[in-house]
Amino acid sequence: MIIALNHKSNLEKEEYLKYLEDFSTIKTNHHLIVCPSFINLGQSNPDKIHLGSQNVSTYNSGAHTGEISVQQLKSYQVEYTIVGHSERRQEQKESLKEIHQKIIQLQKYDITPILCIGETKKEREEGKVEEILEKELLSATEGLTKEQKEKMIIAYEPIWSIGTGLIPSNKDIKKTISFIKKILPNTKVLYGGSVTEENIDIIKTISIIDGYLLGGLSLKIEKLKMLLKKLD
Ligand code: 13P
Repeated sequence: MIIALNHKSNLEKEEYLKYLEDFSTIKTNHHLIVCPSFINLGQSNPDKIHLGSQNVSTYNSGAHTGEISVQQLKSYQVEYTIVGHSERRQEQKESLKEIHQKIIQLQKYDITPILCIGETKKEREEGKVEEILEKELLSATEGLTKEQKEKMIIAYEPIWSIGTGLIPSNKDIKKTISFIKKILPNTKVLYGGSVTEENIDIIKTISIIDGYLLGGLSLKIEKLKMLLKKLD
């Protein structure tokens, strides 16, 4: 399975170095992707871990203060990039157009986009889950070839589930992931949102999930090891 670890804006320098040390003790056959914050990314050894970034600029290298270009990511051997995380859609007002541009940039440089999609609590209550996800998916993948679509990874993260301890029922997750796979057959789909070493026992019975995108848990190596053990 694919297990992507989104550190968000966590881990100061020394904490991250210790994290890498502890991370090296993990033994697993699952495909782990570490997505540290940009400032920690350069401290990681890409020969030892699969590296992901949490964002990419829509601009190429050049005069764009504060931006990190896809060419720079490539030079650090970044293999994956999280795109359109709900925190960026909300806090940075990242638009559908920008998300689409980022995916195009990444694919040009053969970096796999991990596209996050998901509904708010209100949208769920109004019965709009599929409508929202379809809009996000179609806009992000506009003009991509079948091969390019299949090379992406989708992370279904219900916004109301992120960091809250709340998770949709297995029936709901299965229904939603089937819906995504109907739009993008043969594209891998992860689930993200409050996944823990405890509730994984329940979620892992959904056989169509290709992996998980972990936030809080990704920072705790011992708990991560427990989760991985349960997935073996
Ligand atoms: P939590 O696992 O902390 O809910 O975060 C999920 C997430 O947003 C991963 O991208």
